[in-house]
Amino acid sequence: MTKRFLRSLLDEASRPFNGNGHFAYHYSRGKLSSDSIFREILKRGLFPAEGRYLDLGCGQGSLFAWLLAARKLYEAGHWPKDWPAAPKPQHLHGIELMQKDVDRAARAFGADHPVVRIEQGDMTKADFGKADVVTILDALHYFDHAHQKDVLKRIRAALPPGGLFLTRVGDASAGLPYHLCNWVDHAVTFVRGHRLPRLYCRPLAEWVALLQSLGFSVETDPMNEGKPFANIMLVCRVPAAA
Ligand SMILES: C[S@@+](CC[C@H](N)C(=O)[O-])C[C@H]1O[C@@H](n2cnc3c(N)ncnc32)[C@H](O)[C@@H]1O
Repeated sequence: MTKRFLRSLLDEASRPFNGNGHFAYHYSRGKLSSDSIFREILKRGLFPAEGRYLDLGCGQGSLFAWLLAARKLYEAGHWPKDWPAAPKPQHLHGIELMQKDVDRAARAFGADHPVVRIEQGDMTKADFGKADVVTILDALHYFDHAHQKDVLKRIRAALPPGGLFLTRVGDASAGLPYHLCNWVDHAVTFVRGHRLPRLYCRPLAEWVALLQSLGFSVETDPMNEGKPFANIMLVCRVPAAA
């Protein structure tokens, strides 16, 4: 995989946010370039070839822009030989609490995009419908433990056998890296215009036990891109025969 390819992917994924205000463009571009989870999703072929994807706490839709850009480059034959085919999402449905993010998403993708639909909503209350892949990237810790359990339970119910839930959490048992992580989270949330939030975290073992108790098989993988944080990617699958 060349630097040139990653640059093209980043340019394509950032394009919808261009002309949508300084913040929208630089937020997505910065996030997609520096956060390794986006690359890993494609490189590891984590998502199925086709399907309905639901992103909870989707912000302005950076993940969707990334997936659409990946598919476009793949179809144009501009794709690393050692990466699996880019997925071709049939529906990209996002639910985001903050209206400002939803408005930025609407400007980026357009109101009548054939694949993308991002709506304002609170994932602790919203109906998830049915999906083949559900993602929550760095948003589960914004509400309390009882709501976390309920959201995870409803995600499990929304997924078919073989379905995937991909999330990233902080490991509250990781000591200093975890506290650093939380400090940065507070700062970024504040800069994005929110009040300083209370964060509801759990040790990694507790996240895994909770997800397993709901019927997921869980793989864990640190996802910090060289930063001294305690972020863990959780790849949670509904057993195919369930
Ligand atoms: C750290 S940001 C990550 C945004 C996005 N996942 C990304 O990767 O760019 C967390 C997002 O979760 C949203 N959020 C927090 N609580 C939520 C809730 N109860 N329902 C829906 N969205 C929520 C926040 O407004 C914020 O946009």
